[in-house]
Amino acid sequence: MNKKTILAIDVGTGMIKAFAGRLEADGTIVVIGSGAAPTDGYNKGDITDINALAHSIRQAIDCVIMAADNQPVGAAYLGIGGTALVTDNCVGSIAPAIPGTVSQQDVARACKAAEFMINSDNEVLHVFPVKESPGLPGEALEVDAHIVSASKSTLKALTAALAGNGLHVNGIVSSSVMAAEAIKNELPVQADNFVFIDIGAGTTDFVVYVGGRLCFSASLPLGGDYITNDLMQGLTVNRAHAEEIKRYYSRLSPDLRKQGVVLDCNDYGTTDKHISFDFLYDIIESRVDEICALVYDYLRPRLDKQLADSGQAIERIYLTGGCGTMPSMVACMAKYFQIQAEPVKPKYLAEEYAHPVNTVCYGIIHYGAGAIVREPVTNTTPWNLFIHKAKRLLRI
Ligand SMILES: Nc1ncnc2c1ncn2[C@@H]1O[C@H](COP(=O)(O)OP(=O)(O)OP(=O)(O)O)[C@@H](O)[C@H]1O
Ligand SMILES: [Mg+2]
Repeated sequence: MNKKTILAIDVGTGMIKAFAGRLEADGTIVVIGSGAAPTDGYNKGDITDINALAHSIRQAIDCVIMAADNQPVGAAYLGIGGTALVTDNCVGSIAPAIPGTVSQQDVARACKAAEFMINSDNEVLHVFPVKESPGLPGEALEVDAHIVSASKSTLKALTAALAGNGLHVNGIVSSSVMAAEAIKNELPVQADNFVFIDIGAGTTDFVVYVGGRLCFSASLPLGGDYITNDLMQGLTVNRAHAEEIKRYYSRLSPDLRKQGVVLDCNDYGTTDKHISFDFLYDIIESRVDEICALVYDYLRPRLDKQLADSGQAIERIYLTGGCGTMPSMVACMAKYFQIQAEPVKPKYLAEEYAHPVNTVCYGIIHYGAGAIVREPVTNTTPWNLFIHKAKRLLRI
């Protein structure tokens, strides 16, 4: 098997997207096969039917294998998001190896200490050091770490269900963290303080960077499905037809408003769907505004907290995900946050794949290929487990 080929699987609320690809020495990713399948048994991070989900994932992978002409598709990594993930900012404290100095190893040890604060029912997926204390002589080193974890029992059940479908998973990761970490080095305008927002079908995921460091990530149950559902009800069309109308609308200029424009929104089997642009605008833009307002209300106080010590400000918002491509979503985010917002897509992918919805798979291939630095991994020796339990008992 070609060890450098990675099978990246993005478990989304709407679709499972999968890529088999290789990271080349020049930084480009060569995709040898891609596939997608409608998601079943998973909604906004909540696994409602594990066997149905495993079956959907299998279908997407079968498409990849077919597209790759049965070449080996490599080590598999699965990206999840929404409520499946728990995020915390915890402080780990250790005595530096050399008093008065702070080494990388000290920071890694302090991150491991911070992991002890995480609920022991959860498995740590990612740890990012956010801020270190100065590490003065005679003082403990304190590291504030951002930790992403997921329920051990859910991960175990998912891994087992996938194994039952003939798929061995090498790692489970946070979709949004993978996307943000891959895209942060190829932003159109390099910024130190920015928010990466992925708006999908069911969830809006954020990753916040301050001073170039990942310091916070979270998810809200908001996405394009709300708009699709409104269109289904407002226009009495089925889901597939509503999706088509939404995509058609998002290609049109908002200048068509108040011009008396009527759009032919008919599909197979309909003849009566001549819809005024203004009617579509009212349905879609009221939801877009609501999503942006909720994101702003959630994020603003958290950003203020992250930025409080530094005296810095968020410079830009970068958007991905299917809904992040909507021009009105981009404009509305910019309006609420009063900073520039722009959609981003993978830079080093062939044109046919370089779309914002593929950013998660792009990030997972980078991660699998080792291009995204792996965070310190919890060392689960019996001795460490004993210390962990003792600390929990003593609440230290
Ligand atoms: N061109 C477009 N214009 C408007 N909406 C779009 C467009 N392309 C995709 N979408 C919407 O984006 C959503 C799907 O995006 P995406 O594939 O990122 O979601 P997902 O990963 O399946 O879900 P989630 O990440 O929320 O769990 C759907 O609501 C779809 O209608
Ligand atoms: Mg997604």
